Amino acid sequence: MTVLPFVRPARPRRYLLCPPEHFDVTYAINPWMDPAVPVDRARAIAQWHGLRETYLRLGHDVVTIDAAVGLPDMVFAANGGVVVDGVAIGASFVHPERMPEADLYRDHLLAAGIPVVHTTTHTNEGEGDLLVAGDVILAGTGFRTDRRSHAEVARLTGHEVVTLLLVDPRYYHLDTALTVLDDHTIAYLPEAFDRDSRRVLQDRYPDAIISSAEDAAVLGLNAVSDGRHVVLPTEAEGLAAALAGRGFVPVPVELSELRKSGGGPKCCTLELRPARTGSLQEVPA
Ligand code: ARG
Repeated sequence: MTVLPFVRPARPRRYLLCPPEHFDVTYAINPWMDPAVPVDRARAIAQWHGLRETYLRLGHDVVTIDAAVGLPDMVFAANGGVVVDGVAIGASFVHPERMPEADLYRDHLLAAGIPVVHTTTHTNEGEGDLLVAGDVILAGTGFRTDRRSHAEVARLTGHEVVTLLLVDPRYYHLDTALTVLDDHTIAYLPEAFDRDSRRVLQDRYPDAIISSAEDAAVLGLNAVSDGRHVVLPTEAEGLAAALAGRGFVPVPVELSELRKSGGGPKCCTLELRPARTGSLQEVPA
């Protein structure tokens, strides 16, 4: 008797991306950024097109927002907000250098037909720190997103929000230290979290994939999963092998230029999640 292997189901997604037309490293707001190291913008653009084409090849829908002059980090669309059940929460940034991006993304989300765009009183850097995992939202804090915004996000979305404290400045956003692979499966770097958060992650995800320090250090955890295919930086070979061992299909992409700013595939990607069928758009004000 032949035993058919378990095939993980992919769910088609809709992603918002921003071309790196004005990408540069002109300031340093995380340890990856060094304005003295030159950026090859043409290469960044070519790599970004590779990412976009990868998503299209996997059957996903890709929409783009125009890049703005003077906002070199705008390519990192994940920070533009978080969209859950067809409702968006706009971002607000910690660093003045990125603050003007918030309105551009908010306006774009509205124009894209997402009917409700909320804001939080306290700082939140969108999907950089707010990762949707099934019915829960895993929420990072420590460097960027204000812990107080987590309760606001819970109220606005109606989802349980789990606060996780980041402790290593190289992993300043949650999406640099943890990847959501499907509604119940994650991969993460334990050392990036404080003791309490590590315990929370262990309890909730006893079968999580644990990343090596090496794979995290090439931003391997900054990956995008559709439930089956996991788009991740080429250099994260150990993580790719671990994913394959668990039935996921690793899809490596080259984004080395964007890593000079501390970003990888996930940072470049904001998922536009549709309203759940049967769910109301309305959420408590
Ligand atoms: N240079 C950007 C910053 O420091 C990188 C943002 C990466 N985005 C992310 N979702 N981790 O803000």
